[in-house]
Amino acid sequence: MKYDSQFVDRVLERFHKSFNRSAHRWCEFSHDGLRAQAYRSTIYQKLYVLRYFPAYYLEYCILASLLKRRLGDAYSSVQIASFGCGVCPDFHALKANLEGLDFDYIGYDSCQWSTRKLIALEESDSLGFQHVHIKSLTPVDLDEVDVFIFPKSISDLGQTGGLEHLAETIAATEKHRVFFLNSFVYGGGDRDDSDLRRFDIIHAALERKGFITLDDRETTHIGRKGMGRGRSLRAITHDYAYPQAHFITCARKGSKAECQGCNVVKYPVVTNNFMGFQLLEYNRLSPARDLGWWR
Ligand SMILES: C[S@@+](CC[C@H](N)C(=O)[O-])C[C@H]1O[C@@H](n2cnc3c(N)ncnc32)[C@H](O)[C@@H]1O
Repeated sequence: MKYDSQFVDRVLERFHKSFNRSAHRWCEFSHDGLRAQAYRSTIYQKLYVLRYFPAYYLEYCILASLLKRRLGDAYSSVQIASFGCGVCPDFHALKANLEGLDFDYIGYDSCQWSTRKLIALEESDSLGFQHVHIKSLTPVDLDEVDVFIFPKSISDLGQTGGLEHLAETIAATEKHRVFFLNSFVYGGGDRDDSDLRRFDIIHAALERKGFITLDDRETTHIGRKGMGRGRSLRAITHDYAYPQAHFITCARKGSKAECQGCNVVKYPVVTNNFMGFQLLEYNRLSPARDLGWWR
């Protein structure tokens, strides 16, 4: 698994600089949680990236390296679709870990995420972004896709609607072998497993079309084998390091009533507490048949 720490440092540096320029507006966001409408604000997007990008990028790097291993020599190129992609940290993780494999990536998001432009792309990067709600996707949009990604997004997709439609759209594929890179918020064990249950919708639609998976879809992973919750991300890869210079510090800290429980001046994610990932491979056993009509 490759974690490109220099790339992450560059991302943090640019977002930190840009976020600092709006310090006079931070209090407006001091009590905003992760709400769908919040993503529309560029200030909130920057705050989100500063808090979550390095940790989520690491998780997607692990998933991308698992994918690389699973694909083996069977593919020379793959098409990848990511739903609720945000600033596309998963694209950059794939880029670092799919060496030697051509891939085209399209990220779909109902929010524009204009701060994506703060992350420099190279000319050879095959990254497409479509500003759409998943409800408007049709089978033609996804019929070439080999790998589907839910990057910390399935709970949002479930809440904002359209997951059933997306499930049917994915399952309408003509492909016989497809992969899912699922990155849930928690998931599995005695923790909140609502994201796992949301994926049941996709699984059921695939099953109706004759797909099966031999992977364990009830299990999510949180880093190295045998690792418990609350472990430092550095224990997963020594390359992970969040430079202190990019922590958010506020000159007004403690001077106002709103400072209590402030959501801006907060530690970024540095442990595996938010991790929960799995790679699922589905193969079609029989020719496409939709069992739904006679049930
Ligand atoms: C928690 S963010 C994850 C962002 C990104 N994947 C990451 O790893 O940082 C969830 C994303 O899902 C998007 N989203 C929510 N509902 C959606 C929908 N119905 N269709 C498309 N995107 C949606 C939001 O705009 C948001 O960008």
